[in-house]
Amino acid sequence: MKVHHIGYLVKNIEKSITEFKKLGYTGDNVTRDEYRGIDICFMENNGYIVELISPYHDASTVSGLMKKYKNSPYHLCYISDNLSEDIDKLSSDGYTQIDIPTEAPAINGKKVVFMMNINIGLIELVEA
Ligand code: NI
Repeated sequence: MKVHHIGYLVKNIEKSITEFKKLGYTGDNVTRDEYRGIDICFMENNGYIVELISPYHDASTVSGLMKKYKNSPYHLCYISDNLSEDIDKLSSDGYTQIDIPTEAPAINGKKVVFMMNINIGLIELVEA
């Protein structure tokens, strides 16, 4: 599966946007995902995409991860041509589905799902 983006936890999204710009990344459109309690900004550098994710309250879906990782990459997202087929395939390959497919406001409402593997950690699938 082709990589769509790398998800990057950040404590302060505005300050991290400023730092990524210094590294040659562009894009500063912050989207608030109220379902997940996070602010998101996609930035691009020569076709390489990072997704900055910052919780804006303590009950966000990443607040626990933030305590553990601070500012850090924490998932790779792969493009899926068929979300339910890939979920079934990965589930039979040892991945555990950790949420249900949910629309992501920051990716034009495309559905995403997270899965966990004991040997490589968290991955995300986004529908093509
Ligand atoms: Ni992501």
